[in-house]
Amino acid sequence: MSQTGKKLLAVFRSSIGRKLLTGVTGLALVVFLLEHLYSNLLYFSTDPDAYNENAHFLISLDLVYVLELGLLTFFVVHIIVGVSIYLRKRKARPDGYAKYQSAGKPSRQSLSSRTMIVTGLVLLAFLVIHIISFKYGPGIEEGFVVTIDGEPVRDLKRLLEEKFQHPAYAFGYPFVMILLGFHLRHGIWSAFQSLGAMNPRLTPVVYTLGGVLAVLIAVGFLVLPLWIFFST
Ligand code: HEM
Repeated sequence: MSQTGKKLLAVFRSSIGRKLLTGVTGLALVVFLLEHLYSNLLYFSTDPDAYNENAHFLISLDLVYVLELGLLTFFVVHIIVGVSIYLRKRKARPDGYAKYQSAGKPSRQSLSSRTMIVTGLVLLAFLVIHIISFKYGPGIEEGFVVTIDGEPVRDLKRLLEEKFQHPAYAFGYPFVMILLGFHLRHGIWSAFQSLGAMNPRLTPVVYTLGGVLAVLIAVGFLVLPLWIFFST
């Protein structure tokens, strides 16, 4: 292996390297989430075709497979490194803490930070169910079809409406979105901290902005299932 390769491996074996890697992949996933949220909110557009048009546009991008592969890589790396950070911590302190107490200002230890592994694993389970239900759910062949600009495309809007008629989806999704909010609240702050993008004066600002963004993303996602359940 080259000298640079060895150096890179050493960085990612170190705990700082791992935190950096979860931070960078996590922030990339936040960018994906913001794009996904924008697509979801098109459901509320006054143009009834806006949601399906956008989904069709994304799926027909030339680079769609490259983007999907990139996304999958970010998820996989984020999960593997995140779990390994947790396992290392457990090894260092197998009994955990007898009693949790806030570690005070510089540490920012909170309910969100202590539950990252739990919220992360729930999100992983959610993702598997989510991808099976929607990405690989019924399509044109099963009759979920709508004509846009004279072309038959997959009617994802109808699929959303069918899925969120079921209480398990309509209330299960918002529950998971709240956990997503907790995960992001600590994750965004922690990512900036690992990237060294914060000097002590910026810490409170980034902490607050991370919290606000986490709440906006969680609330933005959870309105759609509830709206569909109660309005259709
Ligand atoms: C109310 C919340 C959500 C709704 C209604 C929703 C809806 C959808 C739909 C309809 C698709 C299929 C798109 C297609 O096949 O063209 C999709 C794909 C996907 N969603 Fe969600 N989603 C939600 C939340 C989330 C969250 C919180 C995450 C991540 C933590 C997520 C991750 C994904 C991923 C990774 C894909 C596959 C993207 C791709 O392969 O291009 N979704 N979602």
